[in-house]
Amino acid sequence: MSEIVATSYKIFINNNIEKDINRFLNANKNKYSKLFILVDENSLKYCYPQLVAKIQKFEEAEIIEIESGEEQKSIEVCVQMWTVLSDLKSDRKSLFVNIGGGVISDMGGFIASTFKRGIDFINIPTTLLSQVDASVGGKVGVDLNNLKNQIGVFNQPKAVFVCPLFLSTLPKRQVLSGFAEVIKHSLIADYDYWKKIKEINFSKIESFDEIINTSIQIKNNIVSIDFEEKNIRKSLNFGHTVGHAIETLMLEGHNRKTWMHGEAVAVGMIVESYLSHKICKLSKSELNEITQFILSIYKPVKINENDFERLIELMKNDKKNNDTDINFSLISIIGKAEINKNIKPDLIIEALKFLNKEISVF
Ligand SMILES: NC(=O)c1ccc[n+]([C@@H]2O[C@H](COP(=O)([O-])OP(=O)(O)OC[C@H]3O[C@@H](n4cnc5c(N)ncnc54)[C@H](O)[C@@H]3O)[C@@H](O)[C@H]2O)c1
Ligand SMILES: [Zn+2]
Repeated sequence: MSEIVATSYKIFINNNIEKDINRFLNANKNKYSKLFILVDENSLKYCYPQLVAKIQKFEEAEIIEIESGEEQKSIEVCVQMWTVLSDLKSDRKSLFVNIGGGVISDMGGFIASTFKRGIDFINIPTTLLSQVDASVGGKVGVDLNNLKNQIGVFNQPKAVFVCPLFLSTLPKRQVLSGFAEVIKHSLIADYDYWKKIKEINFSKIESFDEIINTSIQIKNNIVSIDFEEKNIRKSLNFGHTVGHAIETLMLEGHNRKTWMHGEAVAVGMIVESYLSHKICKLSKSELNEITQFILSIYKPVKINENDFERLIELMKNDKKNNDTDINFSLISIIGKAEINKNIKPDLIIEALKFLNKEISVF
C-alpha cells in the first residue's frame, strides 16, 4: 500500500507485511546475530502465527512473552527482560522485535534502547493506537508507579511494519481507544481529514487503511520537524494534559475504574477544546461539532466535582508546567494547533464543568 520515509527509518504499511519484513531481515542478515521477539498473550495468539508462517527467521528467534496490560509497563518488568536477554547471551548485534500494542512498543523500545547501551529494534504494531501513534516517533519508556511514561528516552526504531489486517481481532473498545488519536491528528493538523473521519464506518475494517496512512503521515511530519518536542511536537499533546490526569486519577485509590488511554484523551479533547474556545478563539460552532462527535462515539461518565482539585494537581505534575499556570497545547480552528498556552486552574475547572454538562445533556 504505502511507504513513509521517517528521519532515519521507513514505515511500511500494507496487508502483506511479511514480504517487507523478510526483505529487511535479508538486507541486514550480516548485521544481526540473533532475534528476540517481544509479545503479549494476545499478539502471540492473533498476530505472531501469521507472521512466523511466512518469515523463516522468526522461527529461529527467541520469543519473550509478557502478560498484557498497562501494569506491565514498569521498570520491574524491564529488569526481568534485561535479565532474560543477558541469560540468553544477547549481544550488541541482536535485533529486538516488538509485536503488539503500545505497551509492547513503548517498553520493548526502551529495553532495547538501554540494554548494553542500545541494540536495534523494529516495531510491528498490532493495535490501532500503536499503528497510528505509539510505534512511530521514537518515544520509548515505562511508567513509574501510577505516573505515566516517567522513565524513558527518545530513540528511533530501525523500521516499522504496519499491517491493518491485524485490527480484525482487536476488541471494539480498543479500536475506539486508538481512534481518539486519529481524532487528535485531524484536529491539530488537517480539516479535510476531520471531515473524512466523521464518516467512518467502524464495522468495516477496510475503512482503516486510509486512516492509518494519513494519521502516520501527520504524526511523522510533526516528529520529523521537531523530534525532541521543543515546539511543534507539543501539539500532539492536545487532549493529553487533561487525559493523562484523568487516567492517573482513575488508577488512584477508591476511584479505581479503568479508563482506556484513548477514552481519557477523547474526554480530554472536549475539555481542551473548551479551553481553546476561551483562549485561542476556537469558534463556538466548532467546539460544539467536536464535542458532539466525540460524545457520539464514547460514552464517558461524569467526573466527580470533588476530584477536580486533584485533577488540577495532577496536571501541575505534568512535565510541561511553570509554578501556577498549566501549559496546554490547544487549537485555534479545526486543523490548526497552538502550543504553549498557559492557563489558570479556575478556567480548567470551568472547562471540566462544561464537560460534565455536555455529558449529562447528550
Ligand atoms: N510512544 C508513544 O508515542 C505513545 C503514543 C501513544 C500511546 N503510547 C502508549 O501506548 C500504550 C497503549 O497502547 P495500546 O492501546 O496499544 O495498549 P496495549 O498494548 O495494552 O494493547 C491493548 C490490548 O490489545 C491487545 N492486542 C494487541 N494486538 C491485538 C490484536 N491484533 N488483536 C487482539 N488483541 C490485541 C493487547 O494484548 C492488549 O490487551 C500506553 O502505554 C500509552 O502510554 C505511546
Ligand atoms: Zn495518546
